Amino acid sequence: MRLPFCWICSPVDPHCCPTFRKSWNFPESPVKATAFVTAIGVYDFFLNGEKQGNIFFAPGWTSEKRVFFHRYDLSGKIAKGKNVFSITAANGYALGDISSHHFRENGKCHFADHISVAALIRCTFSDGSEKLLSTDENWEVFSSAILSSDFYHGELCDLNAVPHKLCNAEKDLSPKPKITAAYGGCVRPRERIPAQKLLISPKGEKIIDFGQEIAGFAEISVQGKKGDKLCLSHAEVLDKEGNFYTGNLQRAKAKTEYVLNGENLILHPHFTYQGFRYIRLDEFPQEPVCLDHFTAVALYTDMKQACRFSCNDKRLNRLFNNILWGQKSNFMDIPTDCPQRSERLGWTGDSQVFCRTACINFDVKNFYDRWLSDMALDQSPDGAIPCVIPAVFNGNISAGWGDAATVCPWEVYLAYGDKKQLARHYPMMKKWVEYIHARALNYGEEYLWLGDMHYGDWLAADEKNELLGSTQTDLIASAFYAYSARLCAKAAHVLGKDEEAVYFDTLSKRVRLAFRKAFIKDAKLCVYKKADGDPSVPHNNVYSRPVTNDTQTAHALVLYFNLCEEEEKSIFAGRLAQLVTERGHLTTGFIGTPYLLFALSQNGYTELAYNLLLSEKNPSWLFAVTHGATTVWERWDSVNENGDFQDPDMNSFNHYAYGSVFSWIFGAAFGISVKETGAGYRKIKISPHPDDRLSQMRISKRTPNGTLKVCWKKSGDRFDYEITIPKNTEAEICIPGQSSQIIRQAGNYRF
Ligand code: BGC
Repeated sequence: MRLPFCWICSPVDPHCCPTFRKSWNFPESPVKATAFVTAIGVYDFFLNGEKQGNIFFAPGWTSEKRVFFHRYDLSGKIAKGKNVFSITAANGYALGDISSHHFRENGKCHFADHISVAALIRCTFSDGSEKLLSTDENWEVFSSAILSSDFYHGELCDLNAVPHKLCNAEKDLSPKPKITAAYGGCVRPRERIPAQKLLISPKGEKIIDFGQEIAGFAEISVQGKKGDKLCLSHAEVLDKEGNFYTGNLQRAKAKTEYVLNGENLILHPHFTYQGFRYIRLDEFPQEPVCLDHFTAVALYTDMKQACRFSCNDKRLNRLFNNILWGQKSNFMDIPTDCPQRSERLGWTGDSQVFCRTACINFDVKNFYDRWLSDMALDQSPDGAIPCVIPAVFNGNISAGWGDAATVCPWEVYLAYGDKKQLARHYPMMKKWVEYIHARALNYGEEYLWLGDMHYGDWLAADEKNELLGSTQTDLIASAFYAYSARLCAKAAHVLGKDEEAVYFDTLSKRVRLAFRKAFIKDAKLCVYKKADGDPSVPHNNVYSRPVTNDTQTAHALVLYFNLCEEEEKSIFAGRLAQLVTERGHLTTGFIGTPYLLFALSQNGYTELAYNLLLSEKNPSWLFAVTHGATTVWERWDSVNENGDFQDPDMNSFNHYAYGSVFSWIFGAAFGISVKETGAGYRKIKISPHPDDRLSQMRISKRTPNGTLKVCWKKSGDRFDYEITIPKNTEAEICIPGQSSQIIRQAGNYRF
C-alpha cells in the first residue's frame, strides 16, 4: 500500500521542540480509525493530548535512505465533535549530535537540516464512508515546553512555558527518503527499577544509586514551587573515592533539567536516553530526598528473553545477567556499541562479535533483519560496509567489522532457520566478499587481504594500551576473507545457488591456501613480510605498534576458522595453550575473544578454557564481575586493580562485545549447537562438557520449536544430566563416556 504522505515543516525556527497541530470536527465518531505517522527527527504522536503507542524515538533509527512510519489504532478514541491531533518532534537521529560524526558530500554533517513530519489519519464511518485526513499547510506550529532535547546531551523542559502558536506549517517539498512501514520492533519502556540508595559523596554530591546500569531515563515524582529547578546528571560509575564520575562520557552532557510549575508531577524526558546506574541531583527542590520518588526506566527494542541460565557459581550468574543487560541497553532500534558517551553508534564489529550470543539470549530475528537491511542500503556500490550502520561515520572499512555483513546473516539463519531472510541479505554478503576480493587484487595478492586500515584485534590485552593489539591486521583480514567467503558458500548452498556455492567455496579454499603460505612457517604462525621485507605493509602508519602473530588471537582464528591442516591443529592448539598458561590469562581483544575458548575446548583444552572463564584476575570476565560490574565493560581493565579508570576518551562500562563468551557457555559447556542442515534448532547436537568446579548448571532456551533444556548435577564424581527436547527437533546427544544417540521424540530425558 502506498500512502500519500504530505511532509510539513515549520517555516520559522521554533527554538524548541515544535508541536504540529490540527483540530478537526467529526460529525460522528468513526467506527474505525488508523493514523500513520512519520518524521525526519523523532516524534511523539498525540490524540487530544494523550500520547499514542507508548513508543520512544519513533520513527526509529534507520539508514538515511529510508524512514519508517508507524501505525496507531485510534478506533474508539476519536469522539464526535472537536478532536486535536498533534505531533511533537525533536532532532533525534536525523539532526541531533548523534549524526554529526562526519561531514557529508553536501558539506553538512547531519542527515537533514530541519525537522519534518507527515501524518495520515484514515477514518471509516458507520455508513461505510471513508475519510483520509493529512498533514498540510493548515496544520499549525506551536512551541512546546521541551526547550531542547538531544540523545547525547539530554533534555531541558520548562513546565511554565505555555505552548503558543508560532505560525502555520508549510509543505516540505525537499527530497525525502523512501517511507516504509516500521518493522523489527520499536523502543518502549520495558523495566522499572526502584532507587536503591541515596549516597552523599565525599564531594558532597547527592547521588541516587539504582543498583543496575541501564539505558533509559530516571522518572521522578516531584512537587516544587513554580520556577524551581530540578537538574540531574547521569553516570555509570563512581570513582574510587565514591564521587560521581562522568569523565568517560566524551562530549555527551547527559543531563536532564526541568523548570517546575508548582504542580505535583511525574517527570521524565521524551526524546533522549542515557546509560546510567547513578544520577546526581545537581539541583533538587525537595528536602529530604525520598527514594520512593525515583525510578530508573529501562528502554529497549521489543525482544523477548529466550534464555535462562543458572549455576552454583554466583559469579557466573552475575556475568550472565551483565551480558543480558549489555544487550538490553544496546539494542535500542539498532545494535549500538554503548549507551552513554557521545557514540551510541551501530558499530558493525561489535555486533559481528556478539551476534550469536544475542540470538541465544533474546528473540532478535526481526531486529537483525531490519538492521541488516539498513546495512545493505548503506553498503557502497563497490561492496564496502561502513564501520557503523546507519552510516554516520567515515571510519575504516575494516576486517572483522565489515564481516558483520556475512557473519550476522549466517548466525541469524542458524538460530531461526528463515531462508527467505537469508536470501534477502545474501546479495550484501556476496558484495562484501567481492569487495575484499577487489581490495586483495589491489594489493597484488588475490587471495590475501594485505594492507588497508583495520581495527585489528581491538582493545586486546597483549600489549598495554595498544588499541589494535599485537596481531598483524593482515592476518586477521585474510582469516576473515577465508571465513566470509566460506559463509557465502554455505548461504549459497542453502539457497540452492549451486554455482555460486562452488565459486565461494573455491575462493575460500584458495584464501586458506594462500593464508597458510603467508602466515605459517615450520608449523608456527609468523608475520607476513612483503618481498622487500617490510612487515608493516602500508597500514600501520596511524597506529604504530609491535606486530607478532604468536598471539592468542592469531591461534584462535587459525583453529576456529579451520585455516590449518587437521594434523597441525594439535600443534597450534598446544601453542595456544602455552601462550595462555605462560601469560596466566587471556590477551584477546574484540576479534579473538569469541573464539578463544572454543579454540581451546575443541582441541582438548577444555579445562584451560574453564580456567579462563572462572579466573578473576585482570584481564578476565570475572574481574569486572568481582569489581561490581552490572554490565559488560568495554575494556578488560575499564577499572584496574587500584580502582583507577582507563583512558577517559574510550572507556565504557556497557559494551557488549566481551559478553560473546556466553556463546561458549551455551555452545561448549552445555555443548548445544545447531546443525547447518537443521537451522532454526530443527537439528541440534548436545554434547556437554562439564567441569568439576561447577556442580550444577542449567539452561533453558526457547527455540522456534519449543523450549530446550539442559541441566547437569554432580553427584559424587559422576555427572547426571537432564535434557528436555522440544517437538520437531532431532537431537544428537553425546554425553561424555556414553555412546552418542539420536533422539527425535520430544520429552524429558535423563542420562
Ligand atoms: C567503539 C567500538 C568500535 C571501535 C572501532 C569504538 O569507539 O566504541 O566499540 O568497535 O570504536 O574501532
